[in-house]
This record gives sequence, C-alpha cells and structure tokens, in this order.
Amino acid sequence: MRRHFSMPTILSILHRFRDPSRRAPTPSIAEVLTLLRAQGEDCAALFAAADNLRRRTVGDDVHVRGIIEFSNYCTHACGYCGIRRGSNLVRYRMTPAEIVAQARQARGWGCNTVVLQSGADPWFTAGRLCKIVRAVRQAGIPAVTLSVGVRPLEELRQFAAAGCDRYLLRFETSNRALFRRIHPDETFVQRQLCLRNLRTAGIQVGSGFMIGLPGTPLATLARDILYCTRLDLDMIGCGPFLAHPGTPLGGKPLLADREIYFKTMAILRLLNPWAHIPATTAFDALAPDGRNRVLQLGANVFMPNVTPGKYRRLYQLYPNKPCVDEDGAACVGCVRGRIAGLGRRMATGPGHTLRPKTAPVRHSRGRNARAPSGGNAAQTRLDAPG
Ligand code: 5AD
Ligand code: FES
Repeated sequence: MRRHFSMPTILSILHRFRDPSRRAPTPSIAEVLTLLRAQGEDCAALFAAADNLRRRTVGDDVHVRGIIEFSNYCTHACGYCGIRRGSNLVRYRMTPAEIVAQARQARGWGCNTVVLQSGADPWFTAGRLCKIVRAVRQAGIPAVTLSVGVRPLEELRQFAAAGCDRYLLRFETSNRALFRRIHPDETFVQRQLCLRNLRTAGIQVGSGFMIGLPGTPLATLARDILYCTRLDLDMIGCGPFLAHPGTPLGGKPLLADREIYFKTMAILRLLNPWAHIPATTAFDALAPDGRNRVLQLGANVFMPNVTPGKYRRLYQLYPNKPCVDEDGAACVGCVRGRIAGLGRRMATGPGHTLRPKTAPVRHSRGRNARAPSGGNAAQTRLDAPG
C-alpha cells in the first residue's frame, strides 16, 4: 500500500519558532504558503505564536516614532503613489526651521524618535538634510530616522555623521519584473545597493514591501517575506497596497482574504524575532482597528503622524489615510490611549536596534548576542531571490 505523507501542519511549522535564542531554519516557500493559507484555528494559532514571540524578544514596550512628512514634491512616478510626479495636487515643502520646530513639538508629545519623510525632492540636498538632522538632534531628540529615497553612499555617510541613526527604504516587491513596471525611474539593484550602503555607513536599516500589489500571486508574497528576512533588517515596515484613484494602479482590488495582510505581519515576526516592526498607518486605512490588531500579532512600534495639520491632506500616498484632520498632539494622545488599551506601555528609551550581530556567514550567528545601540555595520547578504 502506498504511504501518504501529509503536508507540514501549521503547528509543526510554528513549533520551530518557539525558541528565539536558537536560529530556526528558514522555511521553504511551501511552508510560508501553508502559513499564508491558514484559516480558523490555524490562523489564530499563527497570530498567537507571533504575539508570544514578540513578547519574549522585543517585549511589551511600544516605541512611538513621530513621522513628519516634510515635502510632497516628487520627481518620481511610482505607479501606486498618490504624490507621484504629475499628480494633480498642491505641492508643499516645509522650511528647515518649521521641520525642527515640529520635531521639538513631537518630542514634547512623547516621541523619542522623529522620522523625517518626503518624496524624491532634490531641493533637500544632502547638505540641507544634514543641517536639519543636526539641528533636530541638538534640540534634544534622541533619535532621527530619514526616509528620503535612494541616495549615494557618500550622502549616507554625511547623514550618519550629522546624527542620523536610521533610514527607511522599502524594496516594495522582490519581483524584479513587477518592480520595473511600477518604478519607471528606478531599478531594483539601486535600492538593493542603497540598503547595503546604509549598513556600510553605520545606519540602522528599515525596509519592507507592500502587501497585495496587483498581479502578485501568493507565491510572490511568500518570496517577499523570505527576501525581507534575508535582508536581516533592523526594522521591517510593510503595509497593505491601497489603490489610489489618481494613479495607474487605481481601481485595483484588495485581496479577497483580508486576513492575508495580517498573516504576513505575523509570519514576518516569526522569521525576524528581534526586528522592530511598526503597525503601519495603512493598516488603519484597511480596517479601523487595523493597527491595534497588528500590535497584537507581532508589531512593537507605532508611528503617529506629527505632520502639521495644514499639510496632511496633501500627503496622501493612498486613499482613506487616517488622521488627516487631526494635529500631532491629537495623534499622539490617541496613540497613548490605544497602547494603554492593549495593556502595553510606551517605551522610554531611543528604541535602537535589537538585532543580534551577524557574522558574515549567516549560520554562524552567536546566540543572543546584542548589537550595540546606535548602528551596526555587520555584513549582510542582500542578494535577490533566485
Ligand atoms: N498603498 C500602500 N502603500 C503605499 N505607499 C505608497 N503608495 C502606497 C499605496 N498606494 C508606501 C510605499 C512607500 C511608503 C512610503 O508608502 O511602500 O515606500
Ligand atoms: Fe515619489 Fe515613488 S512616487 S518616490
């Protein structure tokens, strides 16, 4: 009689990620797909395992990082983005003095990190950005994150010297053909190189992708999760793709199984036990309690919008962006309430990386070795999936 081998069960896969002090072998695409397809009790078990692991690695503290969207000028035309070149909207650019004043306010509201984000805006040269970063640090803000697109190594070094601790640059999708279609002004290799250069410059690296880009089968999502894990990131930022009507991808539907957005985040936590993972704003555009749910299945960072109210409506990368009528104080107040409501507390420290130091060869990672706070120049493989 022929023997039947059953597919790996969800529980047997989850079991492997129980002990964060041991590096679990990287799951296969088939196993990630099994997790992505989990339903009912299996899905609940996935969420519980991720939440449990989060508690034992990065803890109950939630890091609050205030984001200032300081310019919506953009020379690029990414296929999904509401502020792409040529969009019909009023453009704004905060002055350096305005940015620093807003950062100071954010600190007063309890944000220990300020994230400065903009479109690809050449007005903000490395020299201007360095002056801003320096002034923000001098104003007593413990940590600064930049998110200003691909920049050359030389500029990244200048940012680091000016006091920039971290940098966010999503790879968006690991599928090169899709990347090319939706990014007319960039290549995947440039982003990859920039992510590697950030490490060289001693800056903590955050990256991630959009979940559910049109034309991505579940296997692409599984590959994105595995690619993201291979990058060995300090921070992982992902969110649902939300079709913006004014873009070439306008009108594209959400995934039929809405839980896939959440399952992706839970799997990322399991595979990246020490990463800082934000519950990104786009989850609240997906569901009113979206960010709360993500905090309960692996995330440990919340990024309230602290952009001055008058600019918020002009920085809508996707539709239904929450909080566009609020101001920074209201957003941070709301975040405090949400964190307390989940029985968690706001972190008090700067929230630097917790990622263990990696040796050049991935498998020789030391157990529980902690990275020094404030940068990590470890070598990492940043090669694309095969
Ligand atoms: N839906 C979801 N996320 C989006 N972003 C940009 N446009 C959209 C959209 N329509 C994300 C990208 C970018 C980040 C700043 O915002 O991933 O890297
Ligand atoms: Fe501005 Fe993509 S549209 S960077």
